[in-house]
Amino acid sequence: MALLDILVYPDPRLRRKASEVSVFDEGLEQFAADMAETMYHAPGVGLAAVQVNDLRRLICVDVSENRDDLRVLVNPRIVEKDGQQEYEEGCLSVPGVYASVTRAEHIRVQAQTISGEPFEFEAEGLLAVCIQHEIDHLDGKVFVDYLSRLKQDRIRKRLVKEYNGQPISASDPAPAASQGAL
Ligand code: NI
Repeated sequence: MALLDILVYPDPRLRRKASEVSVFDEGLEQFAADMAETMYHAPGVGLAAVQVNDLRRLICVDVSENRDDLRVLVNPRIVEKDGQQEYEEGCLSVPGVYASVTRAEHIRVQAQTISGEPFEFEAEGLLAVCIQHEIDHLDGKVFVDYLSRLKQDRIRKRLVKEYNGQPISASDPAPAASQGAL
């Protein structure tokens, strides 16, 4: 397994849209394992392939307290949503920044396993927040897009100053304040 570099906002590569996965092979399995390792190492609760500069529609999430409930979703799609919730979101690609975002409280998700088996489930609370946040990444969206222009500008300036467009390298010490980031 290998740790992957994580792109940092406002890297333009975070704006690319990922494509449906159609090849379910050993390479995909390896990639999913690397994604999970990178997410746990950060430590974050979710990670989307776009964030590690890969354009496959694949996300991994683990919102459990014990960090033992990994879910890998390939080609995830929200087919139903209702209600509203507000959550103080963070993101591994926006290190050190947390801000409140409103999303659906309850969602129904269709996805495939890494071997291509379709499955469907319902999610609410933090798991629902996390899945919506990660699917946004696959569509080239970042949670700061939901904030005011003023806040977006401040965040952009701060991260350009701190990271200068460079990804967070796996060999760096874990970045501060990424705990619980999506
Ligand atoms: Ni994120």
